[in-house]
Amino acid sequence: MGDTEYERYIRTNELFEQLRPIDGLVAHDELLFQVTHQTAELWMQVALHDVRGAVAHVEKGELAEAADLFTRVGIIEDHLTKQLAILERMPPKQYVHIRRTLGRGSGQESPGFNAMLKMGETIWPAIKKLIEDRGVPIVDVLDAPDQHYDLHVLFRSLYELDQNFRTWRFAHFRLVERQIGGFVDSLKGVPAEQLVHGMREHQLPELWAAVNDFTKRVNAEDRERGESTQYS
Ligand code: HEM
Repeated sequence: MGDTEYERYIRTNELFEQLRPIDGLVAHDELLFQVTHQTAELWMQVALHDVRGAVAHVEKGELAEAADLFTRVGIIEDHLTKQLAILERMPPKQYVHIRRTLGRGSGQESPGFNAMLKMGETIWPAIKKLIEDRGVPIVDVLDAPDQHYDLHVLFRSLYELDQNFRTWRFAHFRLVERQIGGFVDSLKGVPAEQLVHGMREHQLPELWAAVNDFTKRVNAEDRERGESTQYS
């Protein structure tokens, strides 16, 4: 327990106990490496909490509140991406020492990330029901955002959430390229290059399918009017 009210509420002593002692670090940058992971796990708990809160708002028809929370999740993801820039500057030789103490531990075992990978399963049923109740498919919202403004704002927050998650995955791959290279076997014995496949995944594929449908619709309308189409 700390001495001040602040220390007791924030639980700073317990928090600092989670860090490897400074005199036991295997490399100067091990503290940065550990704190980057630990803070990411904490932020992902906040993101997941906000996703659940946003879904509850959607279910109650409180779309502005839902959009607000989904937007915040996107900002948390963005924050996680930005903080990788600090680790990116670590000399790879520092990571060699850290890696030797990691054993076979891997980010693939991150509880926060693995729960984030299931975000779509939490979000989509509520969105699907909303679309059905309103009788307005996503493509119609893309076609006339001003006529469905609340849905437009909600979907925009979801596009950002999904997009920022992929941006984190890309930034992480870039970090891997800087630290160990993209074509070497990782701690789990699979090439780091496999991460590229994950970078292509969407958590809410229906949103992105709707963009394609939108362009196809516009092209069909153009063809009907005898105008050339730019994107097939
Ligand atoms: C020196 C820095 C880092 C290196 C070299 C690195 C390396 C790797 C590699 C090679 C993988 C592929 C799976 C495996 O075999 O382990 C991986 C996956 C992963 N790492 Fe990192 N990592 C670094 C930092 C981080 C940080 C700071 C985080 C979190 C904040 C993180 C979270 C993850 C996650 C969530 C995965 C699974 C990703 C997926 O399946 O798409 N890593 N990492």
